[in-house]
Amino acid sequence: MANFETVTVKTDLLIVGGGMAACGAAVEAAHWAKKNGLSVALVDKAAVDRSGAVAMGLSAINQYVGLMEGDNTLTDYIRYVRNDLMGVTREDCVANIARHVDGSVHLFEKWGLPIWKDEKGGYVHEGRWQLMINGESYKVIVAEAAKNAIGIDNIYERVFIVGPLMDGDRVAGAVGFSIREEKFYVFHAKAVIVGMGGAVHVFKPRSAGEGLGRAWYPPWNSGSSAYFTLKAGAEMTCQEVRFIPVRFKDAYGPVGAWFLLFKSRATNGLGENYMQTNADELQNWLPYGKVKPVPANLRNWLMLLDVMEGKGPIFMRTEEAIGNIAAEFKDDPKAYKKKMKELESEAWEDFLDMTISQAILWAASNVAPEERSSEIAAAEPYFIGSHSGASGAWVSGPSDIQTGETKNEYYWGYDCMSTVNGLFCAGDASGASSHKFSSGSHAEGRIAAKFAIKFILDNNSEPNIGGAGIEELKKEILAPLDRFAEFSKNTTDAEINPDYIRPKMFMFRLQKLMDEYAGGVTAQFKTSKPLLDKGMELLDFLREDSCKLAAEDLHELMRCWENIHRMWQAEAHVRTILFREETRWPGYYFRPDFPEMKDEWKVFANCKWHPATGEWEMMKRPIYQIFD
Ligand code: ADX
Repeated sequence: MANFETVTVKTDLLIVGGGMAACGAAVEAAHWAKKNGLSVALVDKAAVDRSGAVAMGLSAINQYVGLMEGDNTLTDYIRYVRNDLMGVTREDCVANIARHVDGSVHLFEKWGLPIWKDEKGGYVHEGRWQLMINGESYKVIVAEAAKNAIGIDNIYERVFIVGPLMDGDRVAGAVGFSIREEKFYVFHAKAVIVGMGGAVHVFKPRSAGEGLGRAWYPPWNSGSSAYFTLKAGAEMTCQEVRFIPVRFKDAYGPVGAWFLLFKSRATNGLGENYMQTNADELQNWLPYGKVKPVPANLRNWLMLLDVMEGKGPIFMRTEEAIGNIAAEFKDDPKAYKKKMKELESEAWEDFLDMTISQAILWAASNVAPEERSSEIAAAEPYFIGSHSGASGAWVSGPSDIQTGETKNEYYWGYDCMSTVNGLFCAGDASGASSHKFSSGSHAEGRIAAKFAIKFILDNNSEPNIGGAGIEELKKEILAPLDRFAEFSKNTTDAEINPDYIRPKMFMFRLQKLMDEYAGGVTAQFKTSKPLLDKGMELLDFLREDSCKLAAEDLHELMRCWENIHRMWQAEAHVRTILFREETRWPGYYFRPDFPEMKDEWKVFANCKWHPATGEWEMMKRPIYQIFD
């Protein structure tokens, strides 16, 4: 579009994204940048106060190790993460985050986040690693600190980042556009930290109609991190390790507080506890089948076995759990009533803090949790490196948590740097370091920022950005607007047009093929080589049609690019599931053609898209155990 102004911003460090990882990066970067006379800018497609996965708030902080209190050791945490991911984890990266995460939590408290306290003034734990918070404004508090640190003038909100700018094999910045004004943005930077979250709506969601946007993970996280890193030529890891959370059905309310704090059971439609009745199945997944807690995907699997046998619905037994806790007050009616009231309000707050629509659904369907169970179900697959999924970029670990052997594979100079020079990743953007959640993502952002500044000091030269390339990029990125303007009058209904496809329809096509061929909800999370091959063929057609996307306005232009980002995430996923010829996480996806876990596949399945040739490369990387 000829009338789009090109705005050029030059900075030393560019942070793309505005969620927990990006806010952690901003706070740390500001400190080191100031010491060294460097500049930092942050770009968010939304407003930092309420962007990213924590936008709505949270009812718990899921990673707190308690190192100072002596509650746990680093090794305890590594063991937990290793087992939960069926052995596939970068212990150096997990440990790096775990040793810094408590510091981030202490900062949150200092900045004003209310963390529940017990009578002795200690934190109230939900489970071993989780702290209860009054977290409705969690993100606002964390954002305020980030904004204060780098200064409001260095924050670009409502600017959508499309992709990277490169100077040979070094990242040189990013390009995008304003979603409010006709402006095309070119950011020049000496290093970039990617913190644009994971991906939702790659698979067809369970939600339909007006509920379509309802997902567990935020619907606006659309695979921008994966696209950015792939396009820069970075090696990716664990692209097959999707996350399927079990959630309260239809509004995706969290289950952690129920399972851990309220000690609730989940039972099938016949009242059986599938964790007990299906316990024998765990023997097929040893050694992980015998660990405590049972890995998230195996908990899913035991539940799915009942669902596949038609033994649903599955219920969270809220009334039983509340009844059990209140039972000790039974002899004192006044104390009993008070306890019941307290438990009832805790139950509602759990949802009101982070998943308001679940509270609305309870209200709309006359659910009183102390009286009646609620259905739970496995959600559609998400791509997320911060929870019990692991997808993201392959990044350098720290120098001091390596053995001679691991140093060759896991370390290349700067913590959190991808295989592309100057390109750092944190939060959902970095892979194989699961269970960092909100607090660990913030801590990882801090680590990434410290080393990104170090990288800049070691490589303090202006990257070379070819001017001609920029005009071409601008044309390509804004093309959907031109396409709509040119063709929309050719049909009586602008929705349907032989000359273009609108982003929503494009997304439906992507979701349908992923759902049916790559093991989504409809396929009961099962897939095989013939299905995946067919899925790849359909993805090829979709890619061909992506240059026919059309946008009526800036908002829709963002939707176009979000869905291109999702498509790339989808392709990395399909290729990696195909590559790994085994089933390792049966409750995330099951391959009937390779139904067992195999020793030879106890490796990372990595992939890389080569910018020069457009070819994909699949590779295995070794898993080393560093901790006991
Ligand atoms: S949240 O991200 O939406 O808060 P959720 O509420 O399921 O997730 O889980 C919160 C925390 O509890 C996570 O650390 C999760 O791994 C853990 N968790 C949830 N259910 C169980 C369970 N049945 N056993 C052990 N840990 C669990």
